[in-house]
Amino acid sequence: MKILVIGNGGREHALIWKLSQSSRVKKIYAAPGNGGTGALAENIPIKADNIPELLAFAQKEKIDLTVVGPEVPLTMGIVDEFEKEKLPIFGPNRTGAILEASKAWTKQFLKEEKIPTAHFEVFEEYAPAIDFLSTQAYPIVIKADGLAAGKGVIIAKDRAEAVSALESVLKDKVFGDAGRKVVIEEFLVGREASFQVLVDGHSFLPLDSAQDHKRVGEGDTGPNTGGMGVFSPSPYVTESIRQQTIDTIILPTLKGLLKRGIHFKGVLYAGLMMTQDGPKLLEYNCRFGDPETQALMVRLEDDLVDVLEATISGRLSELSLHWKPGASVCVVMAAHGYPGDVTTGDVIEGLDRVSLPETVVFHAGTKNVDGKTVTSGGRVLGVTAAGKDMRQARERAYDVCEKVHWKGVHYRRDIGGLK
Ligand code: AMP
Ligand code: GLY
Repeated sequence: MKILVIGNGGREHALIWKLSQSSRVKKIYAAPGNGGTGALAENIPIKADNIPELLAFAQKEKIDLTVVGPEVPLTMGIVDEFEKEKLPIFGPNRTGAILEASKAWTKQFLKEEKIPTAHFEVFEEYAPAIDFLSTQAYPIVIKADGLAAGKGVIIAKDRAEAVSALESVLKDKVFGDAGRKVVIEEFLVGREASFQVLVDGHSFLPLDSAQDHKRVGEGDTGPNTGGMGVFSPSPYVTESIRQQTIDTIILPTLKGLLKRGIHFKGVLYAGLMMTQDGPKLLEYNCRFGDPETQALMVRLEDDLVDVLEATISGRLSELSLHWKPGASVCVVMAAHGYPGDVTTGDVIEGLDRVSLPETVVFHAGTKNVDGKTVTSGGRVLGVTAAGKDMRQARERAYDVCEKVHWKGVHYRRDIGGLK
């Protein structure tokens, strides 16, 4: 079969890597792909949000399965457009993608369905939002309602920071329309984990857990990022937390969606805070996590094509997933300046020296120029390794990180080092 993977990140490289191992797959296209995907797929110069061109391409090439990586095309309704043309596509439709597209909608939904989450209020106007701050404890969390490329959450440690955050979102419109509304919510204390489930409209199937590291610096310091590394499984997601998450978060969500006529299909990604009162939902994403996917794909033993097809056609209840025992670690190597303004165009050295067992270097912000691989984005590589335990996986991943270099590269050295 012919597969089209939409996106250009490490997540998409990992999906392509796994899909390419299926005996059912003849050809993979990546739109637009990156400097690494070209080795396994044909990169097509169509951007992930150019739905008309993606649709025309899928029709012309008679694509059997399209897999959407990032949230933007999902929230724009790419699945609705493909389904109209009877083209099989993996991901939620526009209505389902609201879970990621609007934090205000989702928080209201969680409240109505009594799903554990931080207490919150939604504001569109600056003055009442400021008044509300006077009654609140600090730190406090301020979130732009819409998609803001992972930058729309501000943790304000005192009132002055909260006022300045509200000013920049509601008055200066730094996130444009995505900041037309803000959610102001209680700061939750605990450990975070990513819990992803495949959903086929009615049944669901959990993926193994993964532990993201959002802050740029070691020991969880510095600004938030899209994710600096992941290990899987997360030892903190115990059987009891997993069951509580399913019972108090996932099942009521799926019920609540169906009640509203929303048939969610694809990956439902729950960002959890494991608090003293049990797991609470920080956010939903409507797609595979990045870099969670990199760490999960090196552990998944099943044919990914079968899994994605079962999700699309409502047959998840017939399936079970099998994970390589042991653990995996993905270390994100980032460009100078990330998560702020980054330097790009730096030549990446040492990629040819990488050949360790069970280790894959997934590309994200890379491109090939004159036979050389150069940096082209913030998160550049996701060095991913599996091992018989976390220690082995971590050692393998960091061995590779030490061999790969470019000007200004930085990465956290504490991924997979349990605290
Ligand atoms: P979100 O995009 O909503 O997951 O937020 C991004 C990151 O901000 C999360 O991964 C947390 O690290 C942090 N965060 C978000 N909401 C809260 C909260 N209510 N309490 C504490 N930290 C939060
Ligand atoms: N790793 C966080 C995310 O995919 O949103």
